[in-house]
Amino acid sequence: MRRALIVANWKMYGRREFVADYVRDLSGGLSGSIPADLVICPPAVYLGDLTRHLPAAIEAGAQDCSPDRDDGAYTGEISASMFADMGCRWVIVGHSERRHRLHEDNSLVAAKFAAVLAAGVRPILCLGETAEERASGHAESVVLNQLESVLDTIEIGGLARAVIAYEPVWAIGSGTSATPADAQAMHELLRHAVERRSPRMAKEVRIIYGGSVKPQNAVGFFRLSDVDGALVGGASLNAGMFLEIVYAVGTSRV
Ligand code: PGA
Repeated sequence: MRRALIVANWKMYGRREFVADYVRDLSGGLSGSIPADLVICPPAVYLGDLTRHLPAAIEAGAQDCSPDRDDGAYTGEISASMFADMGCRWVIVGHSERRHRLHEDNSLVAAKFAAVLAAGVRPILCLGETAEERASGHAESVVLNQLESVLDTIEIGGLARAVIAYEPVWAIGSGTSATPADAQAMHELLRHAVERRSPRMAKEVRIIYGGSVKPQNAVGFFRLSDVDGALVGGASLNAGMFLEIVYAVGTSRV
């Protein structure tokens, strides 16, 4: 069975004091064997604070990076290799808040994904349809297109270091998650798309769900055969709630 992965995406929340309190609460709440790989993605400026205090079992990630691999005159940008230098093991690419608010398109997301791999870091590729795309029957084609544009850019072996996160846009921050049945159907579709290129990679790649995951609904997702964990936004800002989601893995994937 693929080991579960739970990722906390803090988005633009937190201050230095919050980071210190959070790490203390998280470390204090961990007990026994941890049933999943854990990644915390704070705002980039707090990565140093986070990695200084993070328990060894938990890894740090960035929420985005530059598509450019080499240092250069790119004001405001941070490269994947700079994140690696800061002790980051993961970078989220293609989050819908960037696709929609900042108009990041599939080719930019693919360039970022490739840059993350080139830096020796692991990409978390976010995919997801809007409410309108779902209502008009285009959810599957939109999400497949987002995946294929990345797979067309990389060697398929690169997926071994990546994670796919299905996050329906309408479920993010709305309090209304996808139903487990809808999530399973989409995860299966994505896995089949990978299978067409590499049956081995389809078995190995972790596909996690994101969009209003909470302690109350986490078990329903973790029981699904093609859901390998969660990308958690709002609920990840509370260390106690995040831990409840993490330990829900232990009760659902037996
Ligand atoms: P949410 O965010 O858990 O607050 O819905 C998820 C995400 O945007 O990654």
